[in-house]
Amino acid sequence: MGETTAQIAEANPGNDYLALEVHTPGVGSLLKLIEEKHLGNVRIIQHDAVEVLHDMLADNMLDGAHIFFPDPWHKTRHNKRRLIQPPFAALLARKLRPGGYLHAATDWRDYAAQMLAVLSAEPLLENTAAGYAPRPAYRPLTKFEQRGLRLGHEVWDLVFRRKKDL
Ligand SMILES: C[S@@+](CC[C@H](N)C(=O)[O-])C[C@H]1O[C@@H](n2cnc3c(N)ncnc32)[C@H](O)[C@@H]1O
Repeated sequence: MGETTAQIAEANPGNDYLALEVHTPGVGSLLKLIEEKHLGNVRIIQHDAVEVLHDMLADNMLDGAHIFFPDPWHKTRHNKRRLIQPPFAALLARKLRPGGYLHAATDWRDYAAQMLAVLSAEPLLENTAAGYAPRPAYRPLTKFEQRGLRLGHEVWDLVFRRKKDL
């Protein structure tokens, strides 16, 4: 619902953020937060993130990308619908500037393992940690995540960087 994006943008007024979301209530909620917090550094595109990356963004232009709790698609037969697949990792890596970061987080163990395998196999990326990363301080805990952690659920962060040279 934009809570995390708004908090990160508020804490980093010198950075510009582009939020990609298809779900109208999520877009509306972030617009409300932008107005309440007087944020001048967030733009929203309500469209499929894969198409936006493919058709609207130039290569080497992003300082970083946040993919927090993408839909886990729990059923094995639905795994192909997961966002983080090899072609998407290659596309997103190209959009990062050399040295730019890709930070993903999930509370679904099986998806975390898929993310680690897919991102580790992408030649343009390198892991900043040995496996999963500690949660970077800039990623706030959402209410949803706090509730999950209280119930004993785990969360996995992954922080990769686009290599400077190949
Ligand atoms: C489980 S929610 C997590 C939302 C938020 N990142 C958070 O941490 O609370 C996943 C969100 O991703 C959006 N989404 C899934 N696939 C998308 C895509 N291809 N393009 C844009 N948004 C997408 C869904 O609409 C949904 O709001």
